[in-house]
Amino acid sequence: MTFGWYVARFWYLGRWRTNNLLDFDTKSMIFNLSLRTSNDKETHIRMPARSNIEWRKWGKSDPLYGVASLTDRNKKGAHPWTDEEFYAYGAEVWAEYKPEWESYGVNRKSCVEIGCGAGRFTKQLSTYFDHVDAVDVSDDMIEYAKRNIDSEKVFFHVTDGSILPVPDSSVTAGFSSDVFQHFSKPAFAEVYFRELYRVLQPGGSIMIHLPVFSWPGAMNRVFVALYRLWSYLDAVQAEARRLFISAEIGRPFMFGIKFETQWLYQFLRMVGFQDIQIRYFENSAGKQGTSFRPYVFARKPFA
Ligand SMILES: C[S@@+](CC[C@H](N)C(=O)[O-])C[C@H]1O[C@@H](n2cnc3c(N)ncnc32)[C@H](O)[C@@H]1O
Repeated sequence: MTFGWYVARFWYLGRWRTNNLLDFDTKSMIFNLSLRTSNDKETHIRMPARSNIEWRKWGKSDPLYGVASLTDRNKKGAHPWTDEEFYAYGAEVWAEYKPEWESYGVNRKSCVEIGCGAGRFTKQLSTYFDHVDAVDVSDDMIEYAKRNIDSEKVFFHVTDGSILPVPDSSVTAGFSSDVFQHFSKPAFAEVYFRELYRVLQPGGSIMIHLPVFSWPGAMNRVFVALYRLWSYLDAVQAEARRLFISAEIGRPFMFGIKFETQWLYQFLRMVGFQDIQIRYFENSAGKQGTSFRPYVFARKPFA
């Protein structure tokens, strides 16, 4: 496949609406193997989620650093995480999250957590909610969490990376932190937002951390084109690294995406959520100590 072919394909995709900008299927461009989800005619994704490859590797090789990648905290670093420090870190960040969610409105009856990892927040959720369903794609991450969370309130589920194994209208809250940014494409966020809407009871709320951005008004087309090119090349590189990991010769890596604010509002509204708010607030969950990070809050309307 020539570079020219990729450039031509890239510009063809450039004809798509801006709203769909982040929704193109890089893998289908390469392998022509995209599938449609059953519940959404417009979303093309290939299952299982490709990013499961690096996350299952993180779960095997260094679960605590995979979850909280602070400088020198990897297994071979100067100060590798101890379990005690890792879960204390979760308690510290949850203490910063909780007042934000409470000020928005949260019912403490039950919660589903997407991407629980080694249970940094799950441990805290188990002391806050009466019932917690914690979901992750890595069985090693879940095993780590199980060994460190002794609570009858928590139910762990290993999934394929898109489904919430929870009945319709059965939980009062949905939570996720440091997960949506690692999806191989935003279409997985779409599927999860629809799932969250399905499993929430009327009046239930979500608090989801995800990086967002807005296009500047000026030179919009230039920024969009450059960002599209950068995203495309980044996704191609990630796909190559996944091939190495699958062949047992590559190390895990962090792939990152961002979500356009306008798209996020429109999408959540289309799904049916109301009272949609994107809030930035200061907390310690970022890589560089305390930083401002964005969270989306939304509610399923009362019937
Ligand atoms: C950076 S870690 C964050 C873990 C946890 N939320 C925390 O902040 O402590 C990202 C987690 O999301 C999980 N993950 C990645 N893609 C996922 C998907 N599509 N569905 C569910 N979990 C996923 C990974 O296995 C990993 O455990």
